Amino acid sequence: MDSRRVEKKGRESDPCWLRYERIEDEALADQYRQWCKKLVVCGSSPILDSAREELVAGISSMLGISPTLSRDPQVSPSLVMAAPSEGRNWVDRRSWEEMGEEGYLLKTAHREGGASLLLLGKSDRGVLYGVFHLLRLMQIGRPLHSLEIVENPGNRLRMINHWDNLDGSVERGYAGKSIFYHGGRIARRLDRVRDYARLLASTGINAISINNVNVGREECRLITGSLLPDVARLADVFRAYGIRMFLSVNFASPMWIGGLPTADPLDPEVRRWWRERTEEIYRHIPDFGGFVVKADSEHQPGPLTYGRDHAEGANMLAEALRPHGGLVVWRCFVYNFQDWRDRSTDRARAAYDHFKPLDGRFADNVVLQIKNGPMDFQVREPVSPLFGAMERTNQMLELQITQEYTGQQKDLCFLVPQWKEVLDFDTHAEGKGSTVKAVVGGQVFPFRYSGIAGVSNVGDDRNWTGHTLAQANLYGFGRLAWNPDLSAEEIAEEWVRLSFGHDPRVVQTIRDMLLESWRVYESYTAPLGIGWMVKPGHHYGPDVDGYEYSYWGTYHYADHRGIGVDRTVKTGTGFTGQYFSPNRERYESLETCPDELLLFFHHVPYTHRLKSGETVIQHIYNTHFEGVERVEDFIRRWTRLKGKIDEERYEHVLSKLQEQLANAREWRDVINAYFFRKSGIPDEKGRKIY
Ligand code: GCU
Repeated sequence: MDSRRVEKKGRESDPCWLRYERIEDEALADQYRQWCKKLVVCGSSPILDSAREELVAGISSMLGISPTLSRDPQVSPSLVMAAPSEGRNWVDRRSWEEMGEEGYLLKTAHREGGASLLLLGKSDRGVLYGVFHLLRLMQIGRPLHSLEIVENPGNRLRMINHWDNLDGSVERGYAGKSIFYHGGRIARRLDRVRDYARLLASTGINAISINNVNVGREECRLITGSLLPDVARLADVFRAYGIRMFLSVNFASPMWIGGLPTADPLDPEVRRWWRERTEEIYRHIPDFGGFVVKADSEHQPGPLTYGRDHAEGANMLAEALRPHGGLVVWRCFVYNFQDWRDRSTDRARAAYDHFKPLDGRFADNVVLQIKNGPMDFQVREPVSPLFGAMERTNQMLELQITQEYTGQQKDLCFLVPQWKEVLDFDTHAEGKGSTVKAVVGGQVFPFRYSGIAGVSNVGDDRNWTGHTLAQANLYGFGRLAWNPDLSAEEIAEEWVRLSFGHDPRVVQTIRDMLLESWRVYESYTAPLGIGWMVKPGHHYGPDVDGYEYSYWGTYHYADHRGIGVDRTVKTGTGFTGQYFSPNRERYESLETCPDELLLFFHHVPYTHRLKSGETVIQHIYNTHFEGVERVEDFIRRWTRLKGKIDEERYEHVLSKLQEQLANAREWRDVINAYFFRKSGIPDEKGRKIY
C-alpha cells in the first residue's frame, strides 16, 4: 500500500501520544473518577486556561465524565489545580521551595474533612507541565491515591529548531511540508500549530525557532513589519503553551533588507539597525526569545567577512536583545575557515579550534549551540570535545531529531539510545562526573543559560513525522530535555503505551524494535564510526566515495591496505588532543579506543583485529549481512501485531519496514562489494558478495 496515501487520507491529524483513549478497566476508571469529577481551578491566564482545557478534555475522553468546575477549595474529594499565587497556601514551605521556577507538585493530600489531589506549580508553566504529567499517569494506568511527586526540569532551555522555509519546504524534512508556511506566507489557520504546541508542551519544551538556520532573502522579511504581525500570531499560539518563540536571522540582514553598505558588527549604523529591528520585534512579540544564528558556515554570511570574530558578531546582536531579555543562540557548526587544499585538514577539529580561543569573550546572553558530534549528525560519532571546554561561555547541545543521516523517516531509527550515550558521556572537564548532561544542565560551570535544542522532524503529514514510529523521537527528545536521567527503555515503553495501548505483545514488540533500531541501522550502514558514505545532496542510501563536502573526495581514507582516519596526536591530525584526559589517551591508543569508534580515530589494515576478535573486514561483512537479517526480523515481528493495533498504522509501518529492507539490502551490497574489491579479502563465511 502507498504509505503516503495512507498518511494524507482524512483531515484530522494524528493525536500522537495525546490520545486519551477511554480507560477500559472500570475499577481503575472509577478510582480516577473519584478525584476527577470535581475540579477546583484557582487562577486564570492564557497558560492556565490551556492547562485547564487539556485537563478537562483528557478527563472527559478517558473517563467519560464532564468534571464540575468549582472555585471553592473546600470541595472534597477533588482535583485542585492552582495558580502559583494561590498554590502556596496548599502546601508547607519545604514542599513549595523544592519546586524550581518551572517545577510542579502532584500530591494526594488527605486532610480533615476530605481529600484532594493537588496539582501546583511554581509558575503557570509548571501547572501546565503538572497537568500533562497527571494525564500521562492516567493513560499509563498508575494509581493516584498516594501521589507525592515534585519535578523540576534538568535543563533551562528545552528548544526545538525548525528548518522550515517560507515557501513551505523544509530543509532535511521527511514528513511533508511546513506546518507554519504555505506559498510564501504564514498559514492562516493555526489549528495544526496549536496541536503541535500541545504535543511539545506535554513533553516540557519551552522554546522554538520557526525558520531555517539557512535564512534566505525571503525569510529575512520575518523580522520586518511585512510579516511580523503574522509571526506574532504564531507566537500567541505557542505562548499559551509556555513556549517562547525565536527566529533564525541572516547576519547580512542590514544589507539584504536594510539597504546598508555593510553588515560589519562594529559599524555604528549596523548596530543601530539591529537595535531598531529588535525593538520592532518586541513591539509585536513582547516575550520574544531571541535569535538563532548560523554564521560563516556553508555559504551563510558572518562576522569573518569583515575581519571580526564570532564573539564580536554575537555580542552585537546580544546588545540589541539585552534590554528586552532576549538571547542569541550562536551555532558552532563552523568549518568554512579551514583550508581544504591542505590534505592534513580535519573537519572534526573545526568547532573547537575556532571557538575555544574565544572563551570568556561572549556576552552573558549568548549561548553557543554545539552539535553532539564534531562532524555532522552521523549515525555514530564521538562527542564534540567542545563540551566543557569553555568554562566561561554558555553552552547548549544540538541534536538532530529529523533523521537526515539516520534513515530519513523511511528506516526505523529510534535515536534516544544515541542521545543517551551523548548525555552520559563524561567529558572530565572538571574531573570525573562532568558529563555532557551536567555541562549543558549548568551544573559543571555556572552558565546563565544552557540546555538542549533539537532539529524538528515534523511536517504536515497526517502523522506529523512521516514514519509513525518516528513520533517516538520527538517525544523522546522532549522527555530527555526535561529529564536527561530517564533511560531509553523507560522512554520507549512510555511512548508505546501512550501511543498504542497496553497489550503486552504490542508493548514488548514495539519497545524492543525501537530500542534495537539505531544499532541495526548502524550495522547495515556506516561501520566502526567511519560515517559519510551517503549519496551526495539528499544523503539517503550508500555511495562510498560520494560525500560532497570533502575537498579530497572521501572521508574514509580507504585504500587496498586499510581504512580509517588517523586523528591521533602522534601520527595524525591531532584531534584526540582536543579531549580532556583520560578521554584523550583512550582515543589516542589503538588498544583502548572503543571498537565502535575505531575508524573515526585510527587508520588500520583490514586485517586489524577488533576487541571482539573479528578482523575489520570481517566485521564489515558480518554486520552488513546481519543488518539485513535484523530488518527481516523486524518485519516478521511486526506482522504478528496484525489485528492488535489499528489497520491504518499497521499497514503504514509495514510498508515503511519493507522500504527499509530494500535500503538495507542496497547498503549491504554496495558496502560489501566496495570493500571486497578494495581489500581483495574474501568473506570467511563464503557468502555471496554482489
Ligand atoms: C547539515 C545539513 C544542512 C544543514 C546543516 C546545518 O549539514 O545537511 O542541511 O543546513 O547541517 O546544521 O546548518
